[in-house]
Order: sequence, then C-alpha cells, then structure tokens
Amino acid sequence: MNDGKADRLDEIIASHSRREGPLLPILHDIQAEFGHVSEEAKRRIAGALNLSRAEVHGVVSFYHDFRSEPAGKPVLKLCRAEACKSRGVEALVGAAEAVAGDRVAVETVYCLGLCTVGPNAMVGKTVHARLDSAKLTALIGEMA
Ligand code: FES
Repeated sequence: MNDGKADRLDEIIASHSRREGPLLPILHDIQAEFGHVSEEAKRRIAGALNLSRAEVHGVVSFYHDFRSEPAGKPVLKLCRAEACKSRGVEALVGAAEAVAGDRVAVETVYCLGLCTVGPNAMVGKTVHARLDSAKLTALIGEMA
C-alpha cells in the first residue's frame, strides 16, 4: 500500500486516538472513505489500538455496516440472443456501455425468457423489458 492510502488510514486512526472507544468511529470513517475495511486497515487499527487483528476483524464482521471487501460493481445483464437482436438490442449496446463506463458492468446474456417483449435486460432479479436507448441509459444511470 504505497499510494497514499496507508497515510490516510493512519490519519483517520490518529484522529480518533484520544477518544473513549475509538474503534467504531475509526471503522465508520474508513468504511465511508474507502468503501470497505481492508486487511491492511485492520492491521493498522490493531497496531494503533493495541488489539489483535482478529479482534478488529471480529468487530468488522459483526456489524452489517462494515465490509471487508469492496462492493462489486452493479451488473446489468443485457440479452443479446436472437429475439432481442431482431428487436434491436445491438443498436443499444454502444450507448449502454458508454453510460456504464467503469461504474456498471454490462454483461451479455442469451435469453431471459421474455423474448416477445425485448430488448430485455436484468438487474438483480428484475427484468426490464421493451428497452429502447432512452430507457436503457436511464436504467444504467440509476445504477451508477
Ligand atoms: S432473446 Fe432476449 S429474452 Fe429471449
């Protein structure tokens, strides 16, 4: 970790070092800034607070507010099978990928089982049907 994150972790830890019960405020700040509490963060917190890494990990895993791993990108599954192709999905792909950028993963799937109302895409367990360029880019925009 040599990209300034270690220094920032140490700053956050130091900013709470004089508090009574500094662990949770430190974890909240690190979660808010980095999106997760990495192994490196746990090790640095443990060292600063004279705790074991396992004790810090135990607190991180106990509270649902904290994650040990970064959240993955949201995924949009875009059907590019024959029926959706015949309904124009290929013309939507370029704009969808441009809007998604590196914030949303646009994955290709082959048939979501609603061929008569395509082009279709799935987000989580929800299928979005009759997509056109405006609907698809709006959907991706909401996910980003
Ligand atoms: S081909 Fe797209 S849902 Fe079946």
